[in-house]
Parts: sequence; structure tokens; C-alpha cells
Amino acid sequence: MKLTPDQIAQFDRDGYLFFPGLFTPQEMKSLNEAVPALTLRRDAFNVREKGSDAVRTTFAAHLYSEPFARLARHPRMVEPVQQLLGEAVYMHQFKINSKTAFEGDVWQWHQDYGTWRNDDLMPTERAMNVAIFLDDVNAFNAPLMFIPGSHKKGVIDATYDLTTTSYPLWTLDHALVAQLVERAGGKHGGIVSPLGPAGSMIVFHSCLVHASSSNLSPWNRVSVYLSLCAVSNHIRRHKRPEYIAQRDFTPIACLPDDCLLREHPVELPWKNGMPASALVTSLAEI
Ligand code: SIN
Ligand code: MN
Repeated sequence: MKLTPDQIAQFDRDGYLFFPGLFTPQEMKSLNEAVPALTLRRDAFNVREKGSDAVRTTFAAHLYSEPFARLARHPRMVEPVQQLLGEAVYMHQFKINSKTAFEGDVWQWHQDYGTWRNDDLMPTERAMNVAIFLDDVNAFNAPLMFIPGSHKKGVIDATYDLTTTSYPLWTLDHALVAQLVERAGGKHGGIVSPLGPAGSMIVFHSCLVHASSSNLSPWNRVSVYLSLCAVSNHIRRHKRPEYIAQRDFTPIACLPDDCLLREHPVELPWKNGMPASALVTSLAEI
């Protein structure tokens, strides 16, 4: 899938592009069917909400679940990212965020690149986030919130938050977030939430400031987040376990466009379990 010059200009201005209904309900079927069995697993890659058994994030499913391994190589997802970064990309992080009905907890205001730089020593922000909705996203099931244009600020100083939720995150100062929202139009467009059916996709800049509130609605808001990094910009430290920050910098080779509808062989290196090496961490620079 090729982006038009207008889309590239829009991405540069706003820091994101939204593609409502990019994948059909038939294409989403195998992904949605695979999720319940994945969240039942008692593995380290399932991070649960604070004080609850509800799964917050399932990491690295592209290494042990066939439908997600195919999604990770889908040309409609990979090609726009390659075009924006002008280089081959590898999978830095792969997560399924459940945002379970009634239980899904907040994601504080943050930039993803803040965490990738501080924890993983990723040299520059030449990495991109892609969100793919597995459920319909509406105003009530805690949609992502973006501050349009906030990626132009570059990397913003952040504080390491270990307490608010079950997942450590470098989060932003509220006064600064308020300023950024004002600058982006305040009540008139200073915060936007792309809403749409399951199968919609968002591509967003790794410095775009975003957050989401808790999900008090009766509807799950399961989304897949794929973080693709330019190969030359690979991380330089394995401070986090491999299921969170991937260590295989091989460029992604795309499958055919119908790969979610037909069988296409894919490698599943963690099919029989995560290797013990994936839990080994180090502060050494590579
Ligand atoms: C994220 O920022 O990585 C996830 C946010 C969300 O799922 O709401
Ligand atoms: Mn994020």
C-alpha cells in the first residue's frame, strides 16, 4: 500500500494517519479467534492489570501465534511504515492490548520513543507505531487520545512511573501536556481520538504524545500495537526482556496481501514456549 503525497504531508503535520476499516471483518476473524487462548496463558508475556487477573498486554504474539505472525508481515501495514522511514524495518515491539470491559486501566500521557530511548538505547526516533483495532472503537471504550502535531516537540523529558499501573512507563508532566493541548487547538482539536470499526489502522509517530483512560464501558477494546524500527536504528541495550523489546533485527519480509485469508507458512520460533534467554537482561551496550 503506497501513501500519497497528501497523506505524507498530513503525517508530517499531525503525526498520525488513520485508515478506517482497512482490514475486512473476514480478515480480522482469525486474529479475534486467537486472542482468548492467548490471554489464558500463564506466561511472563501476559502482563495483567494492577490488582486484577485481566490481561493488560500480551507481548510478542507474532512469535507463537500464526494469525499474528501473518499480521506482522502484512504489506498493508509494513509498506506505509517503510515508505515513511525510507528504509527496511524490523519488529521492535509487538503487543495486544486488551483494554478489557470495566477493567482496562489507563495509559498515562507518554511518547513511546521516550521509553525506547531511555530503556532500550534506541539511537533516534526513526521508528513507528501502528495500531490495528480488533474491536470497534467508540467514544466509550477508552479510545487512544492523541495531541496532533506534538511529535514536532521531539523527545520530551519524562518521569519513570512504576506505580500508577502494572506496567512501567516514562510519563509526561501534566502542565506540559496542558500546554501542548492548548497549542494544538485546545478544545477545538487539541486532543483527537480516531474512532472506527474493527480492522481500522492508525500509523503514528514514535514522538506523538498519547494516552487512554480506563475502560468503564461493557465493551472490550482489544488492539494490536506493532512498533517497527528502521533496521539501522536498532536498539543498543537489552535492559528489558526480549518479549518486550525484540532482539532480532532482521528486516520484515512481507507476505502477499491475502495472507490473513489463506494459509501462508510463517516461522513461529516461540511456538513451544519462550526460550529462557528471552528473560535474560543486561545493562551492557551492544
Ligand atoms: C500504548 O500507548 O502503547 C497503548 C495505549 C492504549 O492501548 O491505550
Ligand atoms: Mn504508547
